[in-house]
Amino acid sequence: MSIPMQRITVIPGDGIGPEVIEPALALLQVLGLGLEFDVLDNVNVNTYLHEGNALSQADLDHLRNSDATLLGAIGDPRVSETAYVRTVLSRLRLEFDLYVNYRPTHLWHDRLSPLRDPARRGIDCVIVRENTEGLYSGIGGSMRAASPEEFAVDLDVSTHRGVSRVLDFAFSVARRSVCMVDKANAVRHGGQLWQRCWREAIERYPHVETSHLYVDAAAMKLVSDPTAFDVIVTNNSYGDILSDLTAALAGGLGMAPSANLNSDTAYGLFEPVHGSAPDIAGTGTANPLGAILSTALMVEHLGHADEAGAIRRAVVAAVEAGRVTPDLGGSLSTAQTGAAVMAELR
Ligand code: NAD
Ligand code: IPM
Ligand code: MN
Repeated sequence: MSIPMQRITVIPGDGIGPEVIEPALALLQVLGLGLEFDVLDNVNVNTYLHEGNALSQADLDHLRNSDATLLGAIGDPRVSETAYVRTVLSRLRLEFDLYVNYRPTHLWHDRLSPLRDPARRGIDCVIVRENTEGLYSGIGGSMRAASPEEFAVDLDVSTHRGVSRVLDFAFSVARRSVCMVDKANAVRHGGQLWQRCWREAIERYPHVETSHLYVDAAAMKLVSDPTAFDVIVTNNSYGDILSDLTAALAGGLGMAPSANLNSDTAYGLFEPVHGSAPDIAGTGTANPLGAILSTALMVEHLGHADEAGAIRRAVVAAVEAGRVTPDLGGSLSTAQTGAAVMAELR
């Protein structure tokens, strides 16, 4: 029986996006999975600057006709973040109802940890970030702009359905425990809704160990004892912030992969956690391992667990050998690091 060809839409994007996607794609190509790639190199800031919109209906149709999307990064200092990023990245997450942002942190090599105490380095946790609600709703308004009386409101939206489904996802991927993180001591209405959904979820999964932390305490505990965590489930903003923190515990933003998922449609958008890093774009020093580990998440999601394992082992071997970019203490370029991983894969 022949396996139907799987189609991947690739959006290299801006800044270091295309630089890290190139080696990631090269690796995917040698895996021989028979994946078909459609590269949309028009979805970027240049199109936005010329046409006022970087994601056309045709692009969206393209994505709809594929099995998954691999994205580099979106963002450029020349344009307003909210207008541009919201119409591409946030739009994709909403358009495909990718309500889970799955952000695993695994310390692939002891040397990558900033923590002094070796007993604290068994880091293997996942942030399950709600990805379609919260402060990212885009609902709000402002008045009396550019005056001392100016005021602005952004609605922090939580729905029973939205919270319950992301909690369910968190329980479904738990190996040991789920920790729910919120700020219900200060955020009144949404806080109560999250707390209620959390109590209901606990009843649905009586055999999973659970805990709850306020986000400030969670940030502290992630640094002082990251080994305590398995799955952390939280809202859109806290998940955004805490996932940069967990990335820093395991080598930094250059190492961190992510998946935007919907468990009903099974569609996935895979991207490194980092952004377009304008400060290093064009220098050839961007770490491609976050993008490469994102492809591991993608091929695993598409049913190729062995190949995902092979990619991860090749990454670990390159790190072990110090054949990495400067952010990890190496002296290789983006392309050379990609080639080092490729050599380990073969
Ligand atoms: P950033 O993640 O781009 O960079 C933060 C810091 O980490 C920078 O010092 C950068 O040099 C470093 N860094 C990031 N990725 C790296 C890599 N692969 N190798 C080595 N160093 C790396 O965050 P920022 O500077 O706050 O944002 C820059 C732009 O990216 C903004 O426009 C922002 O909106 C956008 N952004 C996009 C995404 C995305 O597309 N998913 C994510 C975050 C930020
Ligand atoms: C991320 C990014 C985005 C987010 C930005 C670019 C809107 O920081 O994917 O973590 O906050 O979701
Ligand atoms: Mn972020």
